[in-house]
Amino acid sequence: MKTRVLNKHPLAIRWFHWINFPVLAVMIWSGLLIYWANDVYNIKTGHTVWFHFFPKSFYDKYHISFRLAEGMSFHFAFMWLFFINGLLYLLYTFLSGEWRYLLPNKHSFKEAWLVLLHDLHIRRSAPSQLKYNAAQRVAYTAIIIMGIGSVITGLAIYKPVQFNYLSWICGGYESARIEHFILTIGYVLFFLVHIIQVIIAGWNNFQAMISGFEFIPPSTKETKNGKSVEPENIGTTKA
Ligand code: HEM
Repeated sequence: MKTRVLNKHPLAIRWFHWINFPVLAVMIWSGLLIYWANDVYNIKTGHTVWFHFFPKSFYDKYHISFRLAEGMSFHFAFMWLFFINGLLYLLYTFLSGEWRYLLPNKHSFKEAWLVLLHDLHIRRSAPSQLKYNAAQRVAYTAIIIMGIGSVITGLAIYKPVQFNYLSWICGGYESARIEHFILTIGYVLFFLVHIIQVIIAGWNNFQAMISGFEFIPPSTKETKNGKSVEPENIGTTKA
C-alpha cells in the first residue's frame, strides 16, 4: 500500500485562518497602545495589589511612549478586516457544512478531558475523532465565540451612546471595557496552547493548513463509532 493524500482543509478556511493571524496580531498590538494610555487594570485583594498590567518598570525598560492616536487609528481600521474576515469564515463554515467537524457534540466535553489525559501521557488511547478531536472542537468553538464577544464589547466601548443597548448587554461601559481586555488575554493564552499543540502534532498536520492536504501513512487505520474505517471516510471535505 502507498502513502495516501487526503483533502483536509478547504481553501477558504485556510485563507480565513491565515488572514486572521496577522490581523489579530495588529488588533492586540494597537489595543495595547490604547490601553497603555490609561492602564487601569490590576489584580488585587482588598488594598493589596498583586499584579499591575503593566508595571512602571515595563514602561521604563521598553521606553514606551504614549501612542494613543496611533493605536486608535490601527485598531479602528483593522477591526473591519477582523470583522469581515470573521463574518465570511462563519458564513462559509455554516453554508459548506464544515461546522459538523468543528462544533462540539454531546460527547465532546467529556472526551476533551480524555484527550487532555492522553496528551499528558496519563491515558494510553485517545478517543476516536473525525477532522478535529474533542478538545480542538471545544477550543475552536470557544475562540469563535470569543471573536463575536470582542466585536460586541468593542462596539460597546467604541460608540457607547450609539450602541447603548450593547453597553447595557455587557453590563455598562466599564464592564464592557474589562470584558474586552479579558478576551484579549484569552487570545494570547489560546495562541500559546495552539502553537504548542501544532508543534506536537508535527509538520504533516501544520503543512495541511497551508497546502490543504495531509499525507496518510500506508498502515493508518481510523475509527468511527468504534468501528475501524479507511482514512478516506473520516469526515474530511474536498478542498
Ligand atoms: C502562527 C500562528 C498559527 C499557526 C501556526 C496555526 C496553525 C493551525 C493549524 C495547523 C491548524 C489545523 C489543526 C489541525 O488540523 O489539527 C489550525 C486550525 C485553527 N486555528 Fe490556527 N494557527 C495559528 C494562529 C491562529 C490564531 C491567532 C487563531 C485565532 C485566534 C487560530 C485559530 C484556529 C482555528 C479556529 C482553527 C480551526 C479552523 C477550522 O477548521 O475552521 N489560529 N491552526
